[in-house]
Amino acid sequence: MAVDVLLGLQWGDEGKGKIVDVLSAGYDLIARFQGGPNAGHTLEFDGKKFVLNTIPSGIFFENTMNLIGNGVVIDPITLKKEIDKLKDAGHDLLAKGNLMIAKKAHLILPTHQLLDAASEKRMGEGKIGSTLKGIGPTYMDKTGRNGLRVGDTTLPDFKERYQKLVDKHVSMLTSLYGEVADFSEREQAFFEAVELINKFQLVDSEHLVNSYLKQGKRVLAEGAQGTMLDIDFGSYPFVTSSNTTTAGACTGLGIAPNKIGEVIGIFKAYCTRVGGGPFPTELNDETGEELRRIGHEFGATTGRPRRTGWIDLPALKYAIMLNGVTQMVMTKADVLSGFDKIYACTHYNYLGEKIDYMPYDICCVEAVPVLKEIDGWNEDLTGITELSEIPAKLQSYIDYLEKELEVPIKYLSVGPDRKQTLVLH
Ligand code: GDP
Ligand code: IMO
Ligand code: MG
Repeated sequence: MAVDVLLGLQWGDEGKGKIVDVLSAGYDLIARFQGGPNAGHTLEFDGKKFVLNTIPSGIFFENTMNLIGNGVVIDPITLKKEIDKLKDAGHDLLAKGNLMIAKKAHLILPTHQLLDAASEKRMGEGKIGSTLKGIGPTYMDKTGRNGLRVGDTTLPDFKERYQKLVDKHVSMLTSLYGEVADFSEREQAFFEAVELINKFQLVDSEHLVNSYLKQGKRVLAEGAQGTMLDIDFGSYPFVTSSNTTTAGACTGLGIAPNKIGEVIGIFKAYCTRVGGGPFPTELNDETGEELRRIGHEFGATTGRPRRTGWIDLPALKYAIMLNGVTQMVMTKADVLSGFDKIYACTHYNYLGEKIDYMPYDICCVEAVPVLKEIDGWNEDLTGITELSEIPAKLQSYIDYLEKELEVPIKYLSVGPDRKQTLVLH
């Protein structure tokens, strides 16, 4: 057996949570492999809506186990809030025993969040637009070999280890930024949350996932963020601090590259981005405003308005290449209903040349999109359940994208609900 990977092909918020939920019934294990509570994955079914930050999106299926992998960074306070909220909604994860946590996953401390905020404040106008969840500083401590891991919480000297790292953070905050906000309340909440986390099954994700495969069980790795936010290949430095690409699933769970099966890439029928950084097809006009309004484009984690624009084919082709995408999902096609004309960016005008790839210096030199005009459709898609109901002009858009991107669009999402999903192939 192999691990299938599902990940975002744009700048995040492509609808990963919804699609993982749709596919979960067919898997024995859903495993998050990177990122942390900067993610906000939205699921809707039976008239209910859930936003998951750390917990994998397979959590609502009886026979599906869920794993927070070693590549994830965990804020115990946020995770406890998610667990408590789900319990209030009738999903008691401790009682169900359907959530496992990797011992090697790193912990986000309250002081990591202070460092994130201080760093962003100091950058002023040029800030990344981080979610301020402490992601960057936590991954810095991981690669700097200072980090604390979930497994450390069970060691007798955990408090001393914690204090040692906090002391380092406090001295950094004082010397670099001249101030340390009071974090005593969050510190107390941190230790309470750690107690709860310790009641869950703490595992070695590499052994767990590989034993699932040996037993012939089906595993789906759930990505967070999107390819264009990848630390190596995204629009650096306006990226997150982990590998959001397929390679991240190998290191973030402990699976070998030859154990990767299908790679399911998700993209919106248009494009959005939250935070700073280049976005060639961005629409800073009424059309962009319309996309934001109709698509409810506000961050699931921070509530910030998402920047909106047309679909960007050079960026998508790049994402498909990096991830080895074998099948795709197009979401939010319903949002484009009623637009007389829609557009797809086929190339960029860059330094007087027409190019069809993402240039290295996209953050400093403007890449002006070359747009192809496409006829829009008027029909409301949100109630369609049969392929025969797909409007001809939407079908032409799908055919055009499949031809350009050279990968089949297997699923079409026409609304936020689990049921609003069509299988095209
Ligand atoms: P994720 O981070 O990739 O899981 O995506 P988010 O949950 O942050 O953002 C996607 C948003 O679009 C959520 O509010 C979803 O409920 C919603 N959504 C997902 N698919 C569709 C779709 O096909 N149509 C519409 N209208 N909304 C969708
Ligand atoms: P999901 O999983 C969209 C963006 C932030 C910021 C940059 C760095 O829901 O798709 P960070 O907090 O990671 O240091 O922020 O990355 N970002 C996201 N944008 N969706 C996400 O996750 C994101 N996670 C981080 O807005 O620009
Ligand atoms: Mg999101």
